[in-house]
Parts: sequence; structure tokens; C-alpha cells
Amino acid sequence: MKNFENKVVVITGAGSGIGRALALAFQKAGAKLALNDNNEIALLETVALAGGPQNIYHQAFDVAEKSAFYEFADKVIAHYGRVDLVINNAGVAIFKLTASEVSIADYEWIMGINLWGMMYGSLAFLPHLRKQKESAIVNISSIFGILGFPNQAAYCTTKFAIRGFTESLAIEERVLKTGVTVTSVHPGGIKTNIARHARYAGNDENAIKQVERLFVTTPEKAAKAIIAGIKRKKMRLIVGPDAKMLYFLTRLSPKFVAWYLIRFANQWK
Ligand SMILES: NC(=O)c1ccc[n+]([C@@H]2O[C@H](COP(=O)([O-])OP(=O)(O)OC[C@H]3O[C@@H](n4cnc5c(N)ncnc54)[C@H](O)[C@@H]3O)[C@@H](O)[C@H]2O)c1
Repeated sequence: MKNFENKVVVITGAGSGIGRALALAFQKAGAKLALNDNNEIALLETVALAGGPQNIYHQAFDVAEKSAFYEFADKVIAHYGRVDLVINNAGVAIFKLTASEVSIADYEWIMGINLWGMMYGSLAFLPHLRKQKESAIVNISSIFGILGFPNQAAYCTTKFAIRGFTESLAIEERVLKTGVTVTSVHPGGIKTNIARHARYAGNDENAIKQVERLFVTTPEKAAKAIIAGIKRKKMRLIVGPDAKMLYFLTRLSPKFVAWYLIRFANQWK
């Protein structure tokens, strides 16, 4: 998809960070927006920045709720009559907890949003996307969907699963010769509110700041890279210099990466 003029673009988690930056970039490119976030106040702020409620279809709901997501898909189609691009971006994180420290309730919480939310968004819109000559699904994974990271087991579980689902779907759509291009996006540290919206061990300002020191790319730059990737019909897109370096090292020497991650985890204790 090279041109977004009058294309209907759905973005979840559009109230902050990458989702908001994508919404503003697509609005500039002349797209018609359908936006979601479970934080209604944040969603309305994005809607106001991107042209106002009269121009943008928006609905606040939790992407982990299947019936709410399918209802949203029906309403987007009823409102605009079509859909061209769906970006499953809404996501949350759990920081500074090992795999055995994360509670089952927290595993279920993160799986509901990051994994099921992405699957509902992909599956609810897929039949409508297939009606277009050219359309796309973009699922936001992470560099943590490429390599396992210490104290990130819960997040990595969801982000690896996003890549598995997305890349399988990407190939299937090619086999079926539909016009749906499917992209798995793997950003590194992006300067958003994700650390502030996360669950933690020791949920204090110091822990948040320690995580935020790893963020290097602005959401606007990330949105630009994602849009360039959509135009190039990429199946796997790595975003940010830190993610590109880790991706390269993971393929070059998994042994070296394991050594580096052990050192990294020891420094973070
Ligand atoms: N920031 C990073 O370093 C980074 C790196 C790799 C991947 N990502 C991914 O990028 C995506 C966007 O995150 P971000 O960094 O912009 O974070 P963010 O916290 O700034 O924005 C995420 C948005 O999703 C919304 N959201 C959370 N739970 C939701 C739910 N149940 N239903 C609907 N909306 C919900 C939040 O209210 C928020 O507005 C996420 O999938 C995240 O995992 C972020």
C-alpha cells in the first residue's frame, strides 16, 4: 500500500506512544481513522489532536474483550463501509520480575491484552480486509519477540506469539493470493509511556526511570519507520538502532547474546 489518502485505518492503543504517533501520521497522510484505547481520556486527546470527534470514529474498550472487539469491527464497517489497514498496537508490559515471580493472574492479564487483543483485531477484520484489492494487517510485537530477555518472560511470551501468529498469517494470505499484506513489527526501546503503564516488582519511580533509560527512539520516528515498512510490504520489520543491533547479534552469535544478557541482568539486580 503506497498511498493512504481516504484509506480506512484502524489503530488500537491510540491514546499514547506509538499508537498516537501513528494516528497523527496517518491523519496527515489523508487517511480516515478508526481509533481505540481503553483509556477514554487519552483516546479523546488523540482524537482532538488528529482532527476532532466529528471526523474520527473512535471507541474506548479493552482489546482483551472479544465481544467488544468484534462489535467495534462491525461498527467501523457500518461507519466507513470498508477497512484497509488494521494496526494492532495496544500493549502492556511487566518489568523486573523473573518468569517464576510473575503471578498467573499477571500472565493472564498480559496475554489477554497483547496476544488475544492482537488476535481478535486480526481475525475480526480479516474478512473485511480481504474484500479490498490491497489491504494490510500490522501487528506490533517487539525485539523481545525475537530474543528471550531476562525479567521479561511474560512480555516475551506474548511478543513471540504475536510473531508466530503474524508470520503464519502472512504466508497464508500469500498462498491464498488475497490482497492482505501482514507485517510483524519489532521495535527496540521507544520513548513512550509503556514503563508507566506496566506492572512491576517494586512499583516505584526508580524502577520506572531505570527502564526508561533504555528507550532511544521517539514514537514519531518509530511511526515513520512502520509506515515505510507498510509501503514496502515487509513481513518482518525491525525498528530502532538498538533493535537492529540485537537482531544482527542474535543471528550472528546466540552464544554471545546469552553472555551479554547474563551480564546485563547481573548489573540490573
Ligand atoms: N515503548 C517501547 O519501548 C516498545 C518496544 C517494543 C514494542 N512496543 C509495543 O508497542 C505498542 C505500543 O506501546 P507504547 O510503547 O506506545 O506504550 P504506551 O503505554 O505509551 O501506549 C499503549 C497504549 O495502549 C493502551 N492500552 C493498554 N491496554 C489496553 C487495552 N486493554 N485495550 C486498549 N488499549 C490499551 C494504553 O492505554 C496506551 O494508550 C505495545 O504493543 C508495546 O508492547 C513498545
